[in-house]
Amino acid sequence: SGLITLDPGFKNTGSTKSAITFLDGEKGILRYRGYSIEELAEKSSFIEVAYLLIYGALPSSEELTTFQNEIKYHTLVHEDIKKILEGFPSNAHPMGVLSSLVTALTAFYPESLDPNRSGDAVNLSIIRILAKMPTFAAWAYKNEVGHPVNYPDNRLDYCSNFLKMMFALPAAEYEVDPVVANALDKLLILHADHEQNCSTSTVRIVGSSQASLYASISAGINALWGPLHGGANSAVINMLENIRKDGGDTKKWMAKAKDKDDPFRLMGFGHRVYKNFDPRAKIIKKAADDVLDKLGVNDPILEIAKGLEREALEDEYFVERKLYPNVDFYSGIIYRALGIPVDMFTVMFALGRLPGWIAQWKEMRENHEPIGRPRQIYTGENLRPYVDMSKR
Ligand code: CMC
Repeated sequence: SGLITLDPGFKNTGSTKSAITFLDGEKGILRYRGYSIEELAEKSSFIEVAYLLIYGALPSSEELTTFQNEIKYHTLVHEDIKKILEGFPSNAHPMGVLSSLVTALTAFYPESLDPNRSGDAVNLSIIRILAKMPTFAAWAYKNEVGHPVNYPDNRLDYCSNFLKMMFALPAAEYEVDPVVANALDKLLILHADHEQNCSTSTVRIVGSSQASLYASISAGINALWGPLHGGANSAVINMLENIRKDGGDTKKWMAKAKDKDDPFRLMGFGHRVYKNFDPRAKIIKKAADDVLDKLGVNDPILEIAKGLEREALEDEYFVERKLYPNVDFYSGIIYRALGIPVDMFTVMFALGRLPGWIAQWKEMRENHEPIGRPRQIYTGENLRPYVDMSKR
């Protein structure tokens, strides 16, 4: 074991070479396939970014249309999947429902289990999961609220279709508000990839055993669920709500976060890689102002969030440790303004991260990477004789 380098949490271990996402944590730079996140968030669309991440280049207009049409063709899910959904109690967390339904795809498309299938067959799995995730996500919510599910409306773009499946009610008109659809599209772009984070590393390591795309993505969804990763976006809103109910005493909550005997952390703060600022948080903070303004929403927790950020950025504890607001700090405030309930926030993150997971899985397979299998340093007992039950 003397030869093994120990690196808990892989803080300084490169697990792969990748041509997908460039991240410079010191300078706060994030690029997908060489394009800056700032430019993509302003000029691109989520579907175009998905194409870029997965296939490596921006699509021509014809390629984009084909890609969109292929996705629309597969948005419907097998009716038997609805039976699986109906088996969940209404208090099931939508992340658990989502990962289960994604795993269930292996049963409906068993050919996806074959690690040696053709590139075209792999591509069909990719299109299917991109197409069906919004349907699953909206259905997980419908199950929670006890409403009948809506079927996809393929006349609509990706985000509008999702919003309609989420919010339309039987026998009632539903018009997608373009402000809402555009805000969602931008948020999904910002979440689309982030190199070797916890869920993406999970997708790659599960896929490295030649498990199917669906099984690998499902594992990624479960990794994302935790409060230190994607689950932070819900945790931020719960925290801000608690601060509001507590009379807005941000100083008190900052003190809690600094207290080493208290497990509480300032949710939406700090990042393993970004040590100056998170470029996504900058864009999202501005978007939160814009979206709330356009929708005429006045959310008191936005002011609490801004106050908390101001104070933390001046506080020695946070400055010393280079803790800045991350992508999750303001995203929840936008989701809330769009009418999305708190426990769906991490599902929204999963929808956004999906193209990144797919691109990383595909790259890992195409590069014929070896099975992921870290080593350990053993700290247990030395060899000892078995003790008979009568002598224990
Ligand atoms: N509040 C209070 N103290 C913190 C925080 C925080 N949010 N984050 C880090 N610290 C302290 C930590 O206690 C440690 O202090 P000390 O050196 O005195 O022991 C120091 O800062 C370094 O933290 P760490 O835990 O060693 O850093 P890490 O790279 O292992 O963890 C993190 C990164 C994101 C898990 C952590 O900052 C955290 O728990 N943040 C809150 C949860 C959160 O917002 N997660 C979302 C991350 S970004 C998007 C995503 O992945 O989904």
